[in-house]
Amino acid sequence: MGGGGEVCSRRMALVGGVGLVVLALALVSARAELRRFEQPVKPDGSIGFLVVGDWGRRGDYNQSRVAVQMGRVGEKLDIDFVVSTGDNFYDNGLTGEHDPAFEESFTNIYTAKSLQKQWYSVLGNHDYRGDAEAQLSPLLRRIDRRWLCLRSFIVNAELVEIFFLDTTPFVKSYFTDAEGHTYDWRGIKSRKTYIANLLKDVESALKASTAKWKIVVGHHAIRSISHHGDTKELLKYLLPILRANSVDFYVNGHDHCLQQIGDTESPIQFLTSGAGSKAWRGDIKETNIGDVSFFYDGQGFMSVRLTRSDAEIAFYDVFGEVLHTWTVSKQLHSAI
Ligand SMILES: *[C@@H]1O[C@H](CO)[C@@H](O)[C@H](O)[C@H]1NC(C)=O
Repeated sequence: MGGGGEVCSRRMALVGGVGLVVLALALVSARAELRRFEQPVKPDGSIGFLVVGDWGRRGDYNQSRVAVQMGRVGEKLDIDFVVSTGDNFYDNGLTGEHDPAFEESFTNIYTAKSLQKQWYSVLGNHDYRGDAEAQLSPLLRRIDRRWLCLRSFIVNAELVEIFFLDTTPFVKSYFTDAEGHTYDWRGIKSRKTYIANLLKDVESALKASTAKWKIVVGHHAIRSISHHGDTKELLKYLLPILRANSVDFYVNGHDHCLQQIGDTESPIQFLTSGAGSKAWRGDIKETNIGDVSFFYDGQGFMSVRLTRSDAEIAFYDVFGEVLHTWTVSKQLHSAI
């Protein structure tokens, strides 16, 4: 009898142990999952947004002129939201939640009616040179309710899923050779763990996605022929995951220009919109030339319009003139 009781209690312990493991796994996966935001689409199922990057300079370096044209184009396209590809506040991010630069470079600049929509923002390397966590603070959303900046998150809008990634911690040289700058690495305990966890989260979210369009946004370019060029850490770690999961566009800033480059091994288009203020750097990395379909060294921004079948990309200069357009249709690929 005693023996049977022992077996029974062992079984109970086993069941309890399994239960704890299941609970622990659930907690881990709950913590690892990227936060999701639902973005409504128009009644016809389409969606439109503008993309601007590398902008916050209190209106200087033509930031205000670009902002005016974004307002005009935003009105015309009836946009649903705006994406910022980072380097939101120059030169060194925000000093804290109460830094007046937030209103001087954002609220007071993007004043057009069509831009009074949700802004989804990632951090850039310059944002890390100040109080990076201040930009993530809910307090900023109380000052200007358009603002939403998190390290990494997902915006779901029925036909499109947009994966926003904080790419600054990928770049090794910011840790090893900061060139006299101080980076705010609070919240990034170890670069290796950060990268491994983020890649795992992104890969599983991309795999699970059934959206018609998959767009990934990060500050740093994967491919660029401009000043900074390719980001080798993203080429190595991120690009294979994007290729394996039918990502349509990778959208970035960092280089202060507008460009479109096609991937050599997949249909991915690399789209740079980092021309929200200071531009005209004047250098091109000829050696990086892949499938470059457009490059503009000056100021401007980009628009994206998506329907179930088509994606239309357009780039604009400081006068709001269309510099380049590109359309892709998916009907054929996904008929079955
Ligand atoms: C602002 O844009 C105009 C028109 O492209 C250009 O001539 C001027 O140099 C720009 N200013 C700056 C500071 O980039």
